[in-house]
Amino acid sequence: MSTRESIRNTHATRRGFLQAAAGAAAATTLTLSRTAGAEQAVSANERIGVGFIGVGGRAQAHIDIVNNLKQKGLVEPVAVCDIYQPRLEEAAKKCGGVKMYKTHEELLADPNVDLVCIATPDRHHAPQAIDAVRAGKDVYCEKPLTHWSQFDIAKKLEEEAKKAGKLVQVGTQYVADDNYAKVSKMIKDGIIGKPVQVQLGYFRRGDWGERMVIPDANAKPGPGLNWERFLGDAPKVDFSVSRFFQWRLFWDYAGGPATDLLVHMFTPVFCLLELDYPERVFGGGGCFQYDREVPDQCNIIADYKGGPSIVMMNSLSNYTGIDTRIRGTNGIIILGDEGMRIVPIDPKTDKETAEVKIPWNGMGNTEKLWLNLIDCVKTRQQPFSPISVAVRVQAPLSMGILSHRASKTALFDKAKQAIVLS
Ligand SMILES: NC(=O)c1ccc[n+]([C@@H]2O[C@H](COP(=O)([O-])OP(=O)(O)OC[C@H]3O[C@@H](n4cnc5c(N)ncnc54)[C@H](O)[C@@H]3O)[C@@H](O)[C@H]2O)c1
Repeated sequence: MSTRESIRNTHATRRGFLQAAAGAAAATTLTLSRTAGAEQAVSANERIGVGFIGVGGRAQAHIDIVNNLKQKGLVEPVAVCDIYQPRLEEAAKKCGGVKMYKTHEELLADPNVDLVCIATPDRHHAPQAIDAVRAGKDVYCEKPLTHWSQFDIAKKLEEEAKKAGKLVQVGTQYVADDNYAKVSKMIKDGIIGKPVQVQLGYFRRGDWGERMVIPDANAKPGPGLNWERFLGDAPKVDFSVSRFFQWRLFWDYAGGPATDLLVHMFTPVFCLLELDYPERVFGGGGCFQYDREVPDQCNIIADYKGGPSIVMMNSLSNYTGIDTRIRGTNGIIILGDEGMRIVPIDPKTDKETAEVKIPWNGMGNTEKLWLNLIDCVKTRQQPFSPISVAVRVQAPLSMGILSHRASKTALFDKAKQAIVLS
């Protein structure tokens, strides 16, 4: 993320809201209970063996973090997997000459792997995470939890992780902050009254994030590039270097700004407000500037029963952004560049009272998300960004995309736990 982007978009944070949620138990599916797999936990003195699945751009940051944490005796990279040989070899070298696997199933069968880091294209995340928890591994899974079309698989992963007693930390690093619990509790205690409306956004100028560099224009399927495995359950189409290297431009593999960018801004709000599934979602936008399939302007309205109504905005044409603002019946919370500003309103006078400023402490820090997961692997507590949150964060984003594509309203059928278009 560029500096310019971060100035306008880095408004997020939270963490212990989850701890706070634990007491609410069955009332909310966000509960942070200890998992059933505690007996399989890595002992406190043991190094956790990490296997990387998908070692392209994003995985480089994860490898750097794991190599750094290896120096502290916390983890150790033990294996890498990719379906593209040049990246596989480069990553194995960067990890100090670890084992290389061409399929994730082979990596998961390696007993030295305790935890996997999944950084493949979106539609592999949940299927590979399901295979991982079934194989007895804890998981750091990059955002978004799934491709927009795979909400059922996201639900399945939640089920499977619970059944296996395995942890899934989803890589929305904006929630790696220590202050969420405190602010979530303040909201619950009524500091801004009832939260009724939220605005958030992600703005950038350019589609360079999706139009990724093509390192080899002559790349072709063969022993060093497994096109079938790249496609996974996506429609079977002929190979193209653009689809392979620039997969974010295509609906088959990506969801555009909703699941790629807005997910970062929405997750902290979700955590602060302890939301569940939305009642209905409208998705708008389109591809008005760049030559690509996925939209370059994306707006989503997600209505939660009894409030709030959340407006998510995005443009890739201009970096003039907006703060995240949570509006309550008696005040507002603003997530800005420096931290969270809480401005209560006295209902008797209708005037603002003394505001509270809470500086960020870890927001956007991927290493902190790793340290939290490593800690949880040992304690078997749920991490900052657990599967129970990620699946509910995914819902309005998938619904926004489905609504946009079908020009319909997306409703959440609570009884069937399914998305319905109307
Ligand atoms: N949290 C963040 O800030 C952040 C930032 C960037 C990317 N991401 C996420 O990370 C994921 C990867 O993005 P990227 O930019 O690294 O993409 P990328 O294309 O650079 O890397 C993906 C890698 O996965 C490999 N791959 C594809 N199918 C595979 C399969 N079936 N098995 C094993 N390997 C396979 C590819 O060969 C490639 O090396 C995306 O889902 C993206 O949303 C998150």
